[in-house]
Order: sequence, then C-alpha cells, then structure tokens
Amino acid sequence: MARNARILLVASLTLALATICYIPSQLSSRSALALDDGVARTPPMGWNSWNRFGCGGVDEWTIERAADAMASSGMREAGYQYVVIDDCWQIARDAQGAIVPDPQRFPSGMAALASYVHARGLKFGIYTDAGRKTCAGRPGSLGHERQDAATYASWGVDYVKVDWCYSDGLDAATQYGVFRDALAATGRPIVLSICTWGEQSPWDWGPGAGHLWRTTGDISDRWPVLLQIIRENVVRAYAGGPGHWNDPDMLEIGNGGMTDAEYRTHFGLWAMMAAPLIAGNDLTRMSEATRAILLNREVIAIDQDPRGTPALIVRDDGGPQVWSRPLADPRARAVALFNPTDRPAQITVRWSEIGLAPGDAAVRDLWAYADRGAAADSYTALVEPHGTAMLRITSPDVSAAAVPPPGAAAAPEPPASPPSDATASPAVVYPYLSDLAPTFASSFFGPAERDMSNGEAAAGDGRPIAIAGASYAKGLGVHAPSDIRYDLGGRCTAFAADVGLDAEVGANGAAAFQVLADGALIYDSGVLTGGMPPVPVYLDIAGARELRLVVSPAGDSSDYTHADWAGARVACAAQ
Ligand code: GLA
Repeated sequence: MARNARILLVASLTLALATICYIPSQLSSRSALALDDGVARTPPMGWNSWNRFGCGGVDEWTIERAADAMASSGMREAGYQYVVIDDCWQIARDAQGAIVPDPQRFPSGMAALASYVHARGLKFGIYTDAGRKTCAGRPGSLGHERQDAATYASWGVDYVKVDWCYSDGLDAATQYGVFRDALAATGRPIVLSICTWGEQSPWDWGPGAGHLWRTTGDISDRWPVLLQIIRENVVRAYAGGPGHWNDPDMLEIGNGGMTDAEYRTHFGLWAMMAAPLIAGNDLTRMSEATRAILLNREVIAIDQDPRGTPALIVRDDGGPQVWSRPLADPRARAVALFNPTDRPAQITVRWSEIGLAPGDAAVRDLWAYADRGAAADSYTALVEPHGTAMLRITSPDVSAAAVPPPGAAAAPEPPASPPSDATASPAVVYPYLSDLAPTFASSFFGPAERDMSNGEAAAGDGRPIAIAGASYAKGLGVHAPSDIRYDLGGRCTAFAADVGLDAEVGANGAAAFQVLADGALIYDSGVLTGGMPPVPVYLDIAGARELRLVVSPAGDSSDYTHADWAGARVACAAQ
C-alpha cells in the first residue's frame, strides 16, 4: 500500500479506536495507580515486637537487644532491615497535641532509640492507628496525621505501621491517603504499612496509598491459622508488585507453636507470595532450626526477586499443591511443592504447568542448598506432612512462556492423600488466549496470528514470538491498530501476558497496549518502542464477560508496529 494512503488509513483507524477505547478517567490499572516513590521495591524485611512481646513486654531494652541481634546474627547481611516497635510505646498527647512516648519504658526517648538502631546499619519503625485509639487503647493518629508524621520524621523513623482499630465510620482509602500525604510532606522516605486486616478491600486502593497492606486477620502461632491466612492471601496475587505488597502478617517462626516443617512452609510460602518478611520471634534466643529458616538466603532471594510477581497455585489436587512464581530471569521459575496433609506425599511438578519448554531443566533444592540435576519434563519430591519443598527450576531455553504461573492445562493427577476441607478450592484452568476463539479480531495487516508474530501479508507468515531477548511458545501476534475480543462469560479472575513490539522490527515502531474489561479500560502500557524489553501485565478481571485487547500505533504511522501479547492467558474457573 502506498505510504500516504497507509498513514491516512492508520490515522483514521487510530482515531476511531481512541474514541472507542481511551477513556483515561476509567483507568484503573493497579500498577498505574501504585505509589512510585522508590520505597520498598522488594518486600520489606525486618523484625517487629508484637508477635513475641505483645503490649506488656515492649520497652527500650527489648528493642535495643533485637537490633543488636539483627546486626550480629547474620540477619542484617541476609537483608533484614527494619526494627519495628508495635503497639504500646505511646502513652498520651501533650498540651500541643504531640504524641508522648511512655517515659518508663522508653526513658531515652525515640530519637535516641532510632539512632541506636541506625548505628547498627538498620532502619527504625514505629506503630500507630488511623483511628481514635490503637488496638491496645493508646492514642491514635486521627486528626493528628501531619503532626505525627512530622514527629516521626524528626525522630528518624523509616517505617510506620498504621492500624485500623477505633475507626468506626471512617473510609480506609481516604484515611490512609491522608497518612500517605502526611508522610510525603516530611520529605523523608518512610514505608507505610497499612493494617486493616483485609477490611475495606485494601488490595483495591492500597497500592496507591501505601507500600504494603494486611490482607487477613491477625496471625497466631498455630497451623490452622497459618493455613487460613495462606488461603486468603494467595488469591490476592494480582495486586502485589514492586513497591506495593500483599501482607499476610508477620512471621511466627521460632515462637514455639508450630513444628519446624510448618515453619518452613510459613517462610517458603511467604517468599512465594512476595510477602514482607518481618520476623516476630525473640532474636536473642534463636534455635539452630529457626536460624536456618530465617536465614535461608536462597528462599529469601525468591521473596526479594526484583520482578516482584507473586506466585499462583498452578495445581491443587485437593491436598498437595504446586505453586509457581515467575522470576526476573525469564528462564527460571520458583516452585513450591506444598503438602498441607498429615501424611508424607510425593508431589510432582511438570514443566508444562509452569510454562517451561520441554527439555532438561536444572532443579535446585533451596532448603538443602543442593542441585538435584537436570530433568526432562517433571520433578517429584517426597514432602513431609505440613511441609513445603522449595525449588528453583531453570530451563536452558528462553522459549518458555515468560509470564505467570501457567497452569493446569493437564488433567490433575489423583490426590496423593485424601482431600481435606481445609485446602480444597475450586478447580482453576489457565488457557492461553491463542487457544480460545475470539468473538472479534482485527489486525491492520495480516490476520491476528496465533503463537507467532505478525508477518503482515497472509495467515501463518510470522515467526516465533520474541520480545527483546525473550521468546515465547504461545501468544498473539498483531499489527497495530488491532482489536481482539473474547467472551469469557464472567468465569475468569486474572489476565497475564508480556507485551511489547516483536524483536523482528528491531528498534523501529511505537505502540500502546490497552486492556478493557466489559468496556472499562483496566490497563494502558503507555508508549512502547521496538527493542524495549517485555512489559509484564497482570490484571484482575474477576467477573468480566468481555475481554478486549487493543493495540494502537503511538505516532502518526503504524509502520513496524508488530505487537505481541506474548504468553497471553487467563485464569478461569473450570467449567
Ligand atoms: C492489631 C494488629 C496487630 C497488632 C495489634 C497491636 O491486632 O493487627 O498486628 O499490631 O493490633 O495492638
């Protein structure tokens, strides 16, 4: 086609698409709304006084000992940073409304305690409440947000946990927004830990208000509570990412109420869920087993992986579960083989269900710090009751689908032990969109291709999908402007893909990717140009009937806009 005619056609098509699709006020992409202040880009790590010392046992001495132990036990070098005082350090407000620390328990004052912690190469955290009182009945921050934030900053506070007791009638998104702005006004980088225990759906507004938010009620040092928290937190995977994390509460490891196997599950699954790792035990008296868990640097590396994508359960046999988490290295997956049952279980992970291409992949056992050799298409471990094998599986071949937790296309194996009510969940499937029939598909050149790039001329003339250095076995290859629609019938909960311009255009071309759910714009990539690395997209589409994938040329020309929805797939209830 003559270039001018092409430009004209593109311009009018782009305008039409833009009119239909681009409604910025409807933009609700979580990543677009998340705080981007450079703080907590990986899940915060540290220690908090509450789980072990509660209200009655917290004082200056205890906090100093915790800081000493964090610095001398190897925890600091392993990544633990924040020493956080929970409830009961505050006692009153003075005549000017300033918060007053308990002078009996904290005789040196908070600024001195912060310096003590900082002198050990650590950071200092504190606790308050967005309501009228803290949960233990101490003064809350309602109406004093700016004053308190300024006080904290003057003391040298680096982390604030803000609880939600005595908050009747208050709107959490509004109140935590007030806190966010008060902290920002101090000019000091301070982590904001939101603690509404999952009330008022913090996964919806938390990314724009703070750096982490509690998804559940309080943890306690008991196995049934741990199981409940895991179940409630893992379904929020879509909401977590760099700078904004789901918080399934602080660690109980080492407090004595669970077995070492259960504590390994606690730590391993927290790492899989990209959860904050805030120890809650007495750091001055750690058993070797506790130390080995809290200091396992290979499990910590999974938690802290810079890609920041939380795991999904890719197979749940009603008892044993297979969890998978994509990592910054597109060839690798973190895999947890979780045995919640009361008997040992053989649990198998197949490469096909974690999105790795067939072929020898290297298996690393993270608890044992040991290589388990290479396996062609699966790996089986014998997992102790209530235990979790933690693996890192690396394919030599990048042709693995690079995004999330691919799943259970294969038929589930019979359960290795009887299903337990505590762990049963509805079956989920993860079809690739390229294997589903669209209700509408347009691509400026060529048809929308399945599992190959767009070769412009005829059906099937593309190449294997590749974005910068990553190649993909599955996905959709289109030429912008393009619009593809699916009827999902409200059965799906999440959409995942890597988007970008196909490597075949080199450094040419510029386009924007948009996702609409029932007509509402839920994702906009902004302008992506040829040669840029793939951009991971992970969206909540719960209940949506129509999913629409739109690519628009970003300039006045659609030349070279070979656009890939690489590895595009959805998580849906099995029919
Ligand atoms: C709430 C929080 C806990 C702890 C206590 C302190 O229950 O969820 O984590 O901070 O308050 O009173």
